[in-house]
Amino acid sequence: MSEITLVVNGEQRALSVAAETTLLELLRAQCNLTGAKLGCDVGDCGACTVIVDGEAVNACLMLAVQADGRNVVTIEGLAGRARLHPLQEAFEACGSLQCGFCGPGMILSAKALLDAAPDPSAAEIRDALAGNLCRCTGYTKLIEAVQAAGETIRAAATGPRRAAGQE
Ligand code: FES
Ligand code: FES
Repeated sequence: MSEITLVVNGEQRALSVAAETTLLELLRAQCNLTGAKLGCDVGDCGACTVIVDGEAVNACLMLAVQADGRNVVTIEGLAGRARLHPLQEAFEACGSLQCGFCGPGMILSAKALLDAAPDPSAAEIRDALAGNLCRCTGYTKLIEAVQAAGETIRAAATGPRRAAGQE
């Protein structure tokens, strides 16, 4: 067993893990965070996507020991106290999900994209979500939701500057 420390959704965790434990197993079994899903377990479906140090990663392919000292965000860490994250609100408003199994991974891949590129093109969104498979939807509403969330986030970021006369 190895002792690791990592930050999960803003909270420092010290955990004991076996060498073969994946980050996905760690999150689901030891942190009780079951939003990241076990789909294919081989890096094909994206259902297990989480954000590690700002990058969307397949948690089924990352060993828990590789997360030592790193910052992990799961779907459970996205919403604020009073409201959902704009991506979560947009996915709901656009009717982007059906069974929802792909949702956490889709939303976290989209978050990593919007954090890096706040105004992505539809092609960039498709590219960012290419590793996230959905068996239910036609993807169009997923892309619309990411565009809508991007607009909301940009408006929130520029609002105070506008109010202060800096634009
Ligand atoms: S469960 Fe990780 S990519 Fe499918
Ligand atoms: S909504 Fe069912 S897999 Fe995407």
